Amino acid sequence: MTDYKELFEQAKALCEGGVWSISAYANVSSLLFGNMERVSWAGFYLAGSAVDKAPAQPENDRLLLGPFCGKPACIVIPFGKGVCGTAAAKKETVVVEDVECFPGHIACDPDSRSEIVVPLIAGGRCIGVLDIDSNEKGRFGEADREGLEAICRMLEKTVSES
Ligand code: SME
Repeated sequence: MTDYKELFEQAKALCEGGVWSISAYANVSSLLFGNMERVSWAGFYLAGSAVDKAPAQPENDRLLLGPFCGKPACIVIPFGKGVCGTAAAKKETVVVEDVECFPGHIACDPDSRSEIVVPLIAGGRCIGVLDIDSNEKGRFGEADREGLEAICRMLEKTVSES
């Protein structure tokens, strides 16, 4: 079982002291990938000017590949497309038990079987998403949703203050 209390404290420590947003995303990707069991990819897609440390602008309509750990992945995902784009458009976490049953799932890795995507929100807009994949069906549940959402709430503050 993932110890989300411990992971939250470690993520917070990595993000303290006005860390540049990209450095925070990179270290949190590494932390999650290294400490979550049966995970094949962990990282961030960033919307538009999130890259420039500012809240996303209204015209942002796509997610761009950001810091991650795992195999190379697709670079651009329009809002509304795939699991990541759906979470970004809805501004809600999406948990997919079986990617083959999610219409429009974007298969960066053919071995991926389940996925969780948590949006990052600042100023009422989606500035990016945290995406975690697994080669095991039904890998992600309520504890993962709660734990990862708490880390994302902390990250939203870090990146908007940095
Ligand atoms: N499967 C995602 C694409 C990103 S990769 O999983 C890293 C999706 O459907 O949005």
